[in-house]
Amino acid sequence: MNVPFMDLARQHAPIRDALHAAACRVIDSCSYIGGEEVKGFEKEMAAWMGVPEVCSAGCATSGLFATLKGFGIGPGDEVITTVHTAIATAEAISMAGAQVVFCDLQPGYFNLDPEQIRKKITSRTRALIPVHLYGQPADLETILSLASQHGLKVIEDCAQAQGARYKGKYVGTFGDAAVFSFFPSKNLGGFGDGGAAVAKDPAVLKKIRMFSNHGRDSKYIHEFEGMNSRLDAMQAALLRVCLPHLDKWNAQRRSAARKYNRTLASISEVKVPRELPDTEPIYHVYCIVVPDREDLRKYLKEKGVATGVHYPYSLNMQPAYAALGQGEGSFPHAEHACKHMLSLPMFPGITDEELDYVCDAIRSYFKGGK
Ligand SMILES: Cc1ncc(COP(=O)(O)O)c(C=O)c1O
Repeated sequence: MNVPFMDLARQHAPIRDALHAAACRVIDSCSYIGGEEVKGFEKEMAAWMGVPEVCSAGCATSGLFATLKGFGIGPGDEVITTVHTAIATAEAISMAGAQVVFCDLQPGYFNLDPEQIRKKITSRTRALIPVHLYGQPADLETILSLASQHGLKVIEDCAQAQGARYKGKYVGTFGDAAVFSFFPSKNLGGFGDGGAAVAKDPAVLKKIRMFSNHGRDSKYIHEFEGMNSRLDAMQAALLRVCLPHLDKWNAQRRSAARKYNRTLASISEVKVPRELPDTEPIYHVYCIVVPDREDLRKYLKEKGVATGVHYPYSLNMQPAYAALGQGEGSFPHAEHACKHMLSLPMFPGITDEELDYVCDAIRSYFKGGK
């Protein structure tokens, strides 16, 4: 049997006609930037989240950049985030002109450790960016309380966690602001790049919106220099078809994760992902920690099971951050995760047979099949 890492064609099959109709509607409308589809999507996502307003963006990276600018964060400021994330999180901080300050992971988890945040706060810290990595909500209660003690903004990076809940509420509704990604493999994936931002303060959201559209609020007046970070009408129309399915797709991922957990927890060499109390993760990535990742990965490939690694290097080990001088050993928990974590097939519509096949292959590897 071959088990793919993800299968967008399978996920899209039931809504294929609706997607085609939406694409044709946009082509026939001759309105490709902004307009009714973008407004419609923003309204529908806001209703889904239970927030007054959503500002769509060209992608989450630029959405995060615009959000930092919306808070006036820039040169001389420090922003604390996790060292174990997609580079986009850190890039946006540096692009805004601020200094990125990395934190290690909470031992036993894949999200940043609030204790580490506490130690890294200085008089220059302006914001914290917790990333809900792999769809696992970070320890928001502790992070929000640290932020309020020190007068810091919290910007949730929900790129991998759209629809995950913390204490019964969607992530993205806790911080001062939050960003989302519609990169095709994300839980609400589009058909190209796309993203969105929300902010509690309507004045900040207005600034984010203006920043994303060349610093303007009306056609010819540019209040300040911004950039082009707009969601296009085609993406918006296609995302409107997908959004009503998001919670169901996430439930399917959660159910697949439960099955993996039940089966794999009995293999002593395998550590299954742990959930923090009061969280409902949505398993953008389902990853296990094993002693000999590369060897198991090769074995699974031979058995027809596709796997992934998110990520092989923590950001302190990337050439892009060499100037920080935080080489090997600076973030032991993240560096350990990067060497030992393996992402297993996870997508809406993955079958019980496929999940059993993956688990059987892992069991046979540890029984001596290697
Ligand atoms: C945690 C995280 N933040 C931000 C991003 C950036 O998203 P986008 O590709 O929409 O810019 C990603 C994408 O991989 C991500 O995983």
